[in-house]
Amino acid sequence: MNILQINSSARSANSQSSRLANDIVARLQSSQPGATLKVRDLGATPHPALDETALGALFTPADKRSADQAGRVALDDALIAELQAADVVVLGVPMYNFGVSAQLKNWIDAVARVGVTFRYTEKGPVGLLQGKKVYVALTRGGLYRNTPADTQVPYLKTFLGFLGMTDVQFIYAEGLAMGPEAEQKALASARTQIEDVLPA
Ligand SMILES: Cc1cc2nc3c(=O)[nH]c(=O)nc-3n(C[C@H](O)[C@H](O)[C@H](O)COP(=O)(O)O)c2cc1C
Repeated sequence: MNILQINSSARSANSQSSRLANDIVARLQSSQPGATLKVRDLGATPHPALDETALGALFTPADKRSADQAGRVALDDALIAELQAADVVVLGVPMYNFGVSAQLKNWIDAVARVGVTFRYTEKGPVGLLQGKKVYVALTRGGLYRNTPADTQVPYLKTFLGFLGMTDVQFIYAEGLAMGPEAEQKALASARTQIEDVLPA
């Protein structure tokens, strides 16, 4: 089993979402001792934003790309290859200003590639990354689960499903900014959720 862990906090150290993602991975590894692990820390190594240069590179045939364009596409290719190789994907996802971090959005923009991770047919889009299990560790200062303000869950479900990843399990740690007691309760609840979805 190949595990890909994506940490998407702006913080590479002391990130609550990365810690929860670590807990999920530890649980997976204890049940599958031979599993391989690739960690992509988007806080420590931020992926560049999709800008005019990146788009220009993508729309230029490979043999006509400049060295800069080829280098930019290669950065995205590396993220796509990691995702293609993964059987299980573990995402650490903080809520920043009611959405996902810019770091995660840049990763999303990098891995969505027509003809590679999805394609369009006469019947609509088809995701090409099927058969993977995804765990998403969500950390929030406030409480948004099952409310219209939770834009992250529908967005991530839609995006991951678009690429073919429909088996997605969300773990919630909410109320982390609502005082030490609420924080401890939220983290304990998240650990229980992890134990429930990944029994020993
Ligand atoms: C820039 C910034 C924006 C935030 N925006 C929100 C928000 O909109 N809603 C919320 O509930 N918490 C918000 N928080 C709190 C974080 O979601 C919370 O601290 C989370 O645990 C951060 O995860 P991390 O440690 O992995 O970065 C925000 C925190 C930061 C630093």
